[in-house]
Amino acid sequence: MSKLLNTTEFNFSIKPQNPEENCQIIHSQLNKKTKQKTHICKKKIVSPLRYPGSKKRIVTDIKEIINANNLNPELYVEPFAGGASVALNLLNDGIVEKIGLIELDSLVADFWYTVFFDTDWLIEEIETIEVSLKNWHKFKHTKPQSKRDRALTCFFLNRTSFSGIIARAGPIGGQKQQSKYKIDCRFPKKTLIERIRQAEALKEKVAFVKNMSWEEGITGCAQK
Ligand SMILES: C[S@@+](CC[C@H](N)C(=O)[O-])C[C@H]1O[C@@H](n2cnc3c(N)ncnc32)[C@H](O)[C@@H]1O
Repeated sequence: MSKLLNTTEFNFSIKPQNPEENCQIIHSQLNKKTKQKTHICKKKIVSPLRYPGSKKRIVTDIKEIINANNLNPELYVEPFAGGASVALNLLNDGIVEKIGLIELDSLVADFWYTVFFDTDWLIEEIETIEVSLKNWHKFKHTKPQSKRDRALTCFFLNRTSFSGIIARAGPIGGQKQQSKYKIDCRFPKKTLIERIRQAEALKEKVAFVKNMSWEEGITGCAQK
């Protein structure tokens, strides 16, 4: 860690107007200081899943650490995948060549597998599904039997339950749907489909999606 980023070397008087511009300013300054290849940020990628306390806020820090240490990682493994924000951003911005996701919850793991490798089916389901309290109960109380079922259950419950919590939370808007915020308020189909398509576009660079604990998954990577 000898080349850890020294932020005092950076010119913070340049004020970015938005997060993407911020990314470009930091990268162009990194480029001058470290003579590393410049990573131009493409359209920002946003996870289709909602996660409280998402790691997306540390994406810029991780990029800076990778750059400042002259690392050129071939594979970045996200051991608690969840919304996979860090992995998706590093891959989308060309900071890493490949990603691998490890996730203990089979609903979440199968969601990511389906996003990358069975995308058209998932999108068709999303386009046609009715986002209602009736369907919330159906997903909540039916044990999904296939990878596809688990993927759709994960996505539907994540986008329609309080704070995106799949297992223990109630429906957004409550059982009586008397709140200003109804069951479908976090389910903007067009935007979510765009996010899924953007993730799908990276599928050639997804080394694996493993449904297992982080210990098992990381040990498996280290042994290769
Ligand atoms: C808080 S989320 C991660 C947030 C995510 N990185 C993001 O930025 O959106 C934690 C995830 O880790 C998974 N998880 C919990 N324990 C795990 C374990 N032992 N091994 C692998 N994944 C685990 C959970 O199922 C959950 O999906």
